[in-house]
Amino acid sequence: MFESISLAPADPILGLTDAFKSDSREKKVNLGVGVFKDEEGNTPILNSVKEAEKLMLETEKTKGYLSISGIEEYGRHVQQLLFGDSDIVSSGRAVTAQAPGGTGALRVGADFLVKQGGACKVWISNPTWANHNAIFTAAGFEVAQYRYYNSETRSLDFDGMLEDLQQVAAGDVVLLHGCCHNPTGIDPSIEQWRQLAGVAVQKGWLPFFDFAYQGFARGVEEDAGGLRAFAEQVDELVISSSFSKNFGLYNERVGAVTLVAKEAQAATNAFSQIKVIIRSNYSNPPAHGALVVTTVLSNPALKSQWVGEVAMMRNRIREMRELFVAKLSEKGVQRDFSFINQQNGMFSFSGLSKEQVESLKKDFGIYMVGSGRINVAGMTKSNLDYLCESIASVL
Ligand code: LMR
Repeated sequence: MFESISLAPADPILGLTDAFKSDSREKKVNLGVGVFKDEEGNTPILNSVKEAEKLMLETEKTKGYLSISGIEEYGRHVQQLLFGDSDIVSSGRAVTAQAPGGTGALRVGADFLVKQGGACKVWISNPTWANHNAIFTAAGFEVAQYRYYNSETRSLDFDGMLEDLQQVAAGDVVLLHGCCHNPTGIDPSIEQWRQLAGVAVQKGWLPFFDFAYQGFARGVEEDAGGLRAFAEQVDELVISSSFSKNFGLYNERVGAVTLVAKEAQAATNAFSQIKVIIRSNYSNPPAHGALVVTTVLSNPALKSQWVGEVAMMRNRIREMRELFVAKLSEKGVQRDFSFINQQNGMFSFSGLSKEQVESLKKDFGIYMVGSGRINVAGMTKSNLDYLCESIASVL
């Protein structure tokens, strides 16, 4: 049965980590996968998380199964982060199921939309995170693209985006990045978000937010602005949340899928079907990561410590953006890279070509995604000289 199976290509993002690990060169830099690194190049456990884990060690009483949709209190905190004190939450129009990471949440949401919503076409931004296409295709969607990035001006192609989304048929799904667009780091302004929401209402397509970087652009509350602008106008929404980045809980796989329906009864019905989907997939979610998030968010002191830690991560990345741009010009690079300072979150779309990316890997041990996406969080003051000299030589 297995002899005719061919070898699959390495994952364009996670495959880079494997390649980086097996590179024996002493001087090497990993700007591939989107994980935060501190000034020493480590991916730390947040202090608020460690504190929560200490509390959990004392108070956790069982490792019994969670319910299919996970910890109820966790769901309430997720909704609070998404919508604040909104009547969407108090009215029961929103329902949330814990999911294994943002990817798990996207997949549960996608399966639900195919099976129960009758959706068959999803629109993703060009470019987008490499896994979006794979997840929605696996769920049975036809995948189409809308314009997003203007490679001439290295900014949002808002007119193109608007024009494309005005052509989307009622009942199709449009995937939007809540903030810190992956891979470009370019987000719509709040006014543009409002306009997009207006198009969704007018055309009747369903917005599906992938919200994996809340807190990495401007702040935990501020970054929900785009989503909340939509929630003010549309009746139905799907949101995938991830706490990999903003809680640093990458390997705990902690995320959530939230549905907003027009009325509470519709939300309750939809939620029952979400549970059917989860049960036949992974049965029920793992507890640890979601318990950490719940413990932090339900304790005011830990919550404010966490908000401070998210700010610390955000500010370090911002500082590295500025230093990177300045260092490139110090190393004699003529090309204007100042657009990198305008981008949000971990990633920068560097504008480096496939050949340049390949040469940086082969000749200098510098790893980045083939599209030229750079994880700015992988830069440190001590690898910046080497990185910028190497980029200068491939340019
Ligand atoms: C990334 O884009 O690097 C992250 O979201 C990690 C992943 O799963 O690809």
